[in-house]
Amino acid sequence: MSYPYQIKSLKEYQEAYKESVENPEAFWGNVAESFTWKKKWDKVLEWNFKEPSIKWFQGGKLNITENCIDRHLETNADTPAIIWEPNNPEDHYRVLTYRELHHKVMQFANVLKNNGVKKGHRVCIYMGMVPELAIAALACARIGAVHSVIFGGFSAQSIADRINDAQATVVVTSDGSFRGNKVVPLKETIDDALMSCPSVKRVIVSTHTRTPVSMIKGRDCWWEDEIKIVETDGNPYCPAEEMDAEDLLFILYTSGSTGKPKGVVHTVAGYLIWTTYTFVNVFQYQPGQVHFCTADIGWITGHSYLLYGPLAAGATTLMFEGVPTYPNASRLWDIVDNYKVNILYTAPTAIRSLMGFGLEPLVGKKLTSLKVLGTVGEPINEEAWNWYNEHIGKNRCPIVDTWWQTETGGVLISNIAGVTPSKPSYATWPLPGVVPALVDETGKELEGNDVSGNLVIKQPWPGILRTTYGDHERMRQTYFSTYDNQYFTGDGCYRDENAMYRITGRVDDVLNVSGHRIGTAEVENAINMHAGVIESAVVGYPHAIKGQGIYAYVMYNGRSNNEPELTRQDILATVTRLIGPIAKPDKIQFVSGLPKTRSGKIMRRILRKIAEGEINNIGDTSTLLDPLIVEEIKHNRL
Ligand code: PRX
Repeated sequence: MSYPYQIKSLKEYQEAYKESVENPEAFWGNVAESFTWKKKWDKVLEWNFKEPSIKWFQGGKLNITENCIDRHLETNADTPAIIWEPNNPEDHYRVLTYRELHHKVMQFANVLKNNGVKKGHRVCIYMGMVPELAIAALACARIGAVHSVIFGGFSAQSIADRINDAQATVVVTSDGSFRGNKVVPLKETIDDALMSCPSVKRVIVSTHTRTPVSMIKGRDCWWEDEIKIVETDGNPYCPAEEMDAEDLLFILYTSGSTGKPKGVVHTVAGYLIWTTYTFVNVFQYQPGQVHFCTADIGWITGHSYLLYGPLAAGATTLMFEGVPTYPNASRLWDIVDNYKVNILYTAPTAIRSLMGFGLEPLVGKKLTSLKVLGTVGEPINEEAWNWYNEHIGKNRCPIVDTWWQTETGGVLISNIAGVTPSKPSYATWPLPGVVPALVDETGKELEGNDVSGNLVIKQPWPGILRTTYGDHERMRQTYFSTYDNQYFTGDGCYRDENAMYRITGRVDDVLNVSGHRIGTAEVENAINMHAGVIESAVVGYPHAIKGQGIYAYVMYNGRSNNEPELTRQDILATVTRLIGPIAKPDKIQFVSGLPKTRSGKIMRRILRKIAEGEINNIGDTSTLLDPLIVEEIKHNRL
């Protein structure tokens, strides 16, 4: 596999950037030539950010699995596509070559068809990090079904919300999954979710943990049995459905500042081209290298840089079932050494947590195979960046700090490994096709360098979201109504004297906890569902390992008011039940009231300052209905 669009020098980056923004149609049309089409496009790009309407490669026909699998078979059929490392290092690892992956994806695509799945249907996938998850997602794409992968840590209620929003007809799950020393009962959670999901007709269950599960006649079937049925049919072949460039590929739910999570929609051609282009460029992938992205496929990073981007590039992608600290804090380094990993892509929160174990877990680890390191998901502090650079990269591996979002499909701002300069805690320069700008609160663009503002993007790139599922107006409202004709990222940002970008964090009510996006409104709604809670307000505060922690102020007059610790535990259980353990507040402070303006709006700015410990710098409280409440909250601060 060769990558004619791979940028090899600073000069090539500058040229590619210029061409891509001045003449996007010619630039991306040229990149698209390196992909496999059933029919070429009629028009490269048509867009307006008003409606908004964004169409790339209109008229083009293709299937993403032909690009991710079939086209590699001629020369690279025996190249490992997926290496799977189990949770327990004593268990057997698995390798799927491109030939085997092709076979398994077609088999399962036939299983989906046998179970009534047709082009355009939505299939929910709720599994741990096992190869079957990748196979299931690719099998959907093979037949044109739209997958909606749900992270294995979400609760039954969250799953039900997502299934109902997408009106999924089929669920693919496992009996359970292993994470560290825990067994997560996935099928049981699905059973709870499905009590309120009438659209689901079939549940396909793969066996992994052998956790006992209920199997409901007429609805539930075993993955392995269904595979046997297609095997005895004798014809494993499953043609790749011809898809329009703009047909839906998948929905992935993500949190915003208001309401329930929204279904971000990505479409076939633009997403394929963006993830492949950015994968090959940012990490400077070379054929034969082993790429290890530690993200779960339940998040966008797993979709783009564990699954689609690497496979489309014909890479070997390593999938790890477990967690970096099990059975001990050497685990990632053992994996790197065992499989001679060349590219390691992880989150700052993982780096900080491993840093906390000191250098002992690194004793005897070679790490000589590593060529490029990457980070994603949250701002990386200089200390973590330096540790990663010195102790993992041994000062010889470029670190790419990749800034992007579920909505952007792939990386937008990042240095290019070894090609463009890096700067600790800076995502640095935009990739070709990306036109960032900083604006002030009124929407005025801040020109020049050494400025801070809200980050917007002025032109579409191929991987931009196309809609929010079932509610296009919500997409317009959320991303295109704050500033005219610009995509609003929700992030604050600083541009230094060399025009390098440093992302400073969300400017809306979205938290980033261990690199996971959580809406404060979602957490508040869950807390408020707890009997006895009158009202609550949730803000983020700096957390040494998670980046941000969740701080909840709760007004409570329930029954066991005199047992605050028990109540706290009960509230945590409620949040876990409604959203999942990732949304559990780190701190809960009981308050007798919340600081509100005379019009009844909670002054989050004040609560944020208190949570951050800046109690002497609260600012003006004179517009508050009851300024005294601030004193009480300050006094009892946790
Ligand atoms: O605030 C930014 C932060 O993560 C948000 C997007 O979260 P999500 O959609 O879950 O996608 C995460 C993985 C791409 C952004 O709005 N973020 C992501 N990458 C970085 C980052 N913040 C700083 N530096 C980054 N490299």
